[in-house]
Amino acid sequence: MSGLIEKKILLGVTAGIAAYKAAELVRQLRQRGACVKVVMTESAQAFVSPLTFQALSGQPVHTQLLDPAAEAGMGHIELAKWADILLVAPASANFLARLATGQANDLLTTVCLATHAPIVVAPAMNQAMWSNPATRHNCQIIASRGIRIIGPANGSQACGDVGLGRMLEAQEITEALEQVTTGGLLMGKTVVITAGPTREPIDPVRYITNHSSGKMGYALAAAAREEGANTILISGPTSLEPLFGVRTIRVETARQMLDQALVLSGGADLFIGCAAVADYAPEQVALQKIKKDGNEALNLRLVKNPDVVAAVARLPERPFMVGFAAETENVLQHAREKLHRKNLDLVIANDVADSAIGFNSDRNAVWLLDAAGEIAYPEQDKRQLARRLMQEIAARLERHNSRKL
Ligand code: CTP
Repeated sequence: MSGLIEKKILLGVTAGIAAYKAAELVRQLRQRGACVKVVMTESAQAFVSPLTFQALSGQPVHTQLLDPAAEAGMGHIELAKWADILLVAPASANFLARLATGQANDLLTTVCLATHAPIVVAPAMNQAMWSNPATRHNCQIIASRGIRIIGPANGSQACGDVGLGRMLEAQEITEALEQVTTGGLLMGKTVVITAGPTREPIDPVRYITNHSSGKMGYALAAAAREEGANTILISGPTSLEPLFGVRTIRVETARQMLDQALVLSGGADLFIGCAAVADYAPEQVALQKIKKDGNEALNLRLVKNPDVVAAVARLPERPFMVGFAAETENVLQHAREKLHRKNLDLVIANDVADSAIGFNSDRNAVWLLDAAGEIAYPEQDKRQLARRLMQEIAARLERHNSRKL
């Protein structure tokens, strides 16, 4: 049953081409039983007419701060009190800036200041505007006040650019709101996730690493956060944007990842080893750049790195342990062997030989394995997959904890 039944959702629509997607969003929210009222900023009305939202929501659309039609002319206070959730989608760069600085210069920002309802914003803008330090800073301020930022997604944009900035699809936004209403499956839990590759130095200018992009681990951290977990991400070097509301510890080498994992897992409820930890590191790191003068070959002696996930699984008070298995053949057989050898509760296995999925791709297809059996997750977007996996993991963690009682 949808958690949105009879929920009063105030949807703020700000300027941007993604405003047309907000129309579909209203339809989906109503399908799930929510009652939706819409507030539009003045420039949003240049993209979609208020009449569209009036027809879809079945409610008058609000556009003016000073509304003589509202009781005592205080429309903003009435709307602020009415809302169970205030959702702003799309949220433009300008709106985020006004929200961050607590402005109240139109109806929407004023309602944001006046409401006690949880606020969720789904940004949409050009990728350069999203990555601009001013917007990053505004988002940090907003997130620090408990406002939930969902998205944006990566992809091609209306302006022709490609990058982060697309508003999430209506279904993804609706699912995020469902989590706000349920409070999240991992509320009160601490989740530690490792992500990305590690980088093992050879000398001051060279290192050994692998193809991991970190996308799957970051998507899992975002999903854990969405489910209400206190989320800690131990990240190897990646080019990914930091996640709002996720405590991120950056490391380079497997040894550094191990040290952080052992400290941060004390008291954690769930540990997910998603990092592609380099299996070997040079035995000696040269203090100076290795010169090639006269050397036709370079011999490096590599020694085995510590196994991070297996070391955490050996802790006396270990969290519920989830590992990944990156395989190129006999995927299920190797994954099951890792489940036992590393003393894990659950393994997520993927076939990294298939270039359409896995390492640098935005998509993945996996198997989830534990003592009870296997579940196949067909190829899908990594963020969506991460949400599905996190729900399954949370359900198993719950069962695991209730057996311990
Ligand atoms: N892992 C780890 N530390 C390592 C190696 C792997 O924590 N030094 C973790 C990974 O994060 C993953 C799981 O172990 O959760 C399996 O990683 P994978 O690369 O599939 O397997 P390996 O243990 O490295 O074994 P092999 O390379 O022989 O397949």
